[in-house]
Amino acid sequence: MLNSIEHHLISSLLIASCLMFNIAAYAEQSPTGDYVEAECITCHEKISAKLVTDWKTDVHGRNKPVAGCTDCHGTQHENAAILSRQDETCTQCHGGTQASVAHSYSTSKHGVINRIERKQTDWSKPFRPGNYRVPGCAYCHASGGQHNMGERMNQIEDDNEHSEHNGQARQAMRWMCQHCHGPRFIRELQNNGQKMLEIGNMKRREAEAILQTAKKTYTPEQMTKMTKLFTALVEENVKSLYLGIAHQSPDYQWWHGHPAIDGKLLRIKGELTRLNRLKAHKKTKEVSSSSE
Ligand code: HEC
Ligand code: HEC
Ligand code: HEC
Ligand code: HEC
Ligand code: HEC
Repeated sequence: MLNSIEHHLISSLLIASCLMFNIAAYAEQSPTGDYVEAECITCHEKISAKLVTDWKTDVHGRNKPVAGCTDCHGTQHENAAILSRQDETCTQCHGGTQASVAHSYSTSKHGVINRIERKQTDWSKPFRPGNYRVPGCAYCHASGGQHNMGERMNQIEDDNEHSEHNGQARQAMRWMCQHCHGPRFIRELQNNGQKMLEIGNMKRREAEAILQTAKKTYTPEQMTKMTKLFTALVEENVKSLYLGIAHQSPDYQWWHGHPAIDGKLLRIKGELTRLNRLKAHKKTKEVSSSSE
């Protein structure tokens, strides 16, 4: 026999679950129509609060938002998800299709298959195992409707560049790979990528040490060429290597990445030799002119 307190508790639970069911049923009614940014935020703060908070605290939404709901989803509610899943939505802001961010993807196996099969791709499907053959930008960076895209970074430790991002979000990206690949393949891939980047950073530090030594002897004007080479090594070649690892592009790893870094390092060393030779030559000249 139930006592009255238990009875009361059970009926309250029943009422509560009915209410919850009602809210859920209401929430599933996705409205149709045209909305402006403020409407998206107001309504979704009520029905998907975590998502909005994630966006607000992450790269795209914090401070003055650089990408709002309508930038990725458009204004037509019925197309909102479909639009956000397609690469063009991301590349329009991330430098276009020729920039290294997109190009490192389009030269990967994923990118090549995506290009061949894009006409057959059904973008109305959610990012779940079995729905897509290869991932595009949004599949990797936002599957599961995750809006903390910056936090999901840090798969690769690039000298702690992204070290503020949290572990759980990192895991999400790795699990996502396992929609289509075995965990061992992914683990080995990441370990190799990590090593490859460490070697790249070692070469970068070697170049930096040469620059620091040269600074003690030569003026900024004399070092113009060397500084330019070093900047290109960091901003173009190490970056390409990173993108090659991030986006699984052999071209970026083995063409724009390591060989290019090696080439710059050699030229930096060559430049130091040239400056030293010039200085030695000048000294000899000074010595010979003062002894005249
Ligand atoms: C009046 C409330 C309301 C407004 C305004 C609104 N939405 Fe929604 N939206 C919903 C509901 C309800 C759903 C379905 C439940 C869910 O997915 O959370 C939904 C679903 C979505 C989905 C998922 C669709 C899918 O197929 O999985 C996206 C994306 C979305 N909204 C984006 C937006 C954007 C962008 C705007 C502004 C242009 C917007 N919403 C404006 C209520 C709203
Ligand atoms: C940088 C691009 C981007 C921005 C900005 C963005 N979204 Fe999204 N959103 C996406 C992508 C990509 C998906 C994933 C679609 C999928 O999983 O199929 C998504 C998924 C969603 C979903 C479905 C979530 C789910 O669990 O399936 C909703 C709802 C949504 N977004 C609403 C919003 C709202 C509201 C805003 C503004 C506060 C917003 N989005 C801002 C790219 C974005
Ligand atoms: C309206 C412009 C805009 C759109 C659309 C957009 N982004 Fe961004 N995104 C930015 C800006 C600006 C930044 C911050 C600066 C940067 O890192 O480039 C950023 C940052 C990021 C970062 C973090 C980079 C880092 O170094 O931490 C990722 C990842 C990202 N975006 C992925 C995406 C994906 C995936 C999409 C498509 C679903 C997308 N973005 C759509 C403008 C946009
Ligand atoms: C196979 C999964 C995958 C695909 C597909 C993918 N990305 Fe990435 N992306 C990553 C990973 C992993 C990283 C590196 C994360 C880290 O820094 O640890 C990354 C890094 C980035 C960054 C940061 C670059 C920087 O300089 O810091 C941006 C921006 C970005 N991706 C945008 C895109 C865009 C745009 C597309 C589509 C053209 C795309 N991604 C496709 C997985 C992917
Ligand atoms: C939606 C499915 C899907 C997802 C998700 C996915 N991949 Fe793939 N991936 C594929 C397919 C299909 C191929 C081509 C396989 C082949 O070589 O036949 C591929 C190929 C690759 C290759 C090239 C292998 C080779 O033989 O050259 C690498 C590396 C790779 N994926 C890494 C990743 C990583 C890392 C992630 C997560 C960040 C990921 N993939 C997520 C489907 C996926």
